[in-house]
Amino acid sequence: MNKRLQAIAEMVEPGIGLIDVGTDHGYLPVFLAQHGYPGLLIAADIGEGPLCAARRSADSAGLLARIEFQLCDGLALCDPDSVDTIVIAGMGGDTICGILDRAEWCMDRRYRLLLQPMTRAEVLRYWLTNNDFVVETERLVADGGEIYALLSARFGGKQKLCDAELFSGSFAQIRKEPLWPAFSAALRLRMEKQVRGLRKGGQEPGRLQLAEQILQELLEEERTRADCTGDL
Ligand SMILES: C[S@@+](CC[C@H](N)C(=O)[O-])C[C@H]1O[C@@H](n2cnc3c(N)ncnc32)[C@H](O)[C@@H]1O
Repeated sequence: MNKRLQAIAEMVEPGIGLIDVGTDHGYLPVFLAQHGYPGLLIAADIGEGPLCAARRSADSAGLLARIEFQLCDGLALCDPDSVDTIVIAGMGGDTICGILDRAEWCMDRRYRLLLQPMTRAEVLRYWLTNNDFVVETERLVADGGEIYALLSARFGGKQKLCDAELFSGSFAQIRKEPLWPAFSAALRLRMEKQVRGLRKGGQEPGRLQLAEQILQELLEEERTRADCTGDL
């Protein structure tokens, strides 16, 4: 278990069942079984190779009978009554949206979604807020020189995020994370670079306007943080 998966495991609450979509080596369900998760554990993957690897991990931990294995796209084989936690980690934000889009049953308050986009987190937050999910928790974890976003979401509510918050998570939530200053500085540099490139190119006024807007929102957030902490 790397620090990223460890952080996801820390967000898991005891429940009736958990499915780990895109389980790959099955490290998360094996870890949860070893640490007393009480409910059903499902390891699902679209690839035969990764699912075999998950079976091997469970076997070497003596937990083959404790975990159910599903070879399928996303949540296609998951019985909606068997789980209350859905983990989708280590994939692009757009892939995660596709998996959720194809499983309309997860649009129900009884499911807690633990999501960890590797890229395009803004696409995922846009999809969630547009489909009446509320992001309840935002966390940041450092692993191997990268900072990863982890979020938990539940259906049934309205949440408004500004353009910058689609990239970072709600400022009110993410501000509590120790890694937020580093993450926001990296995001600001990325946006500054984008603004410079778009100004030079002069061909995409819509994209330029959006990047400038995000930059301004990030700078305002930095000022608010400085006012609160006396930093910066
Ligand atoms: C990079 S691994 C992530 C493994 C683990 N979840 C983690 O966070 O470290 C991505 C895994 O997702 C699987 N995957 C990709 N698209 C999928 C889909 N639509 N349904 C199920 N699994 C998928 C891949 O086969 C691969 O094993």
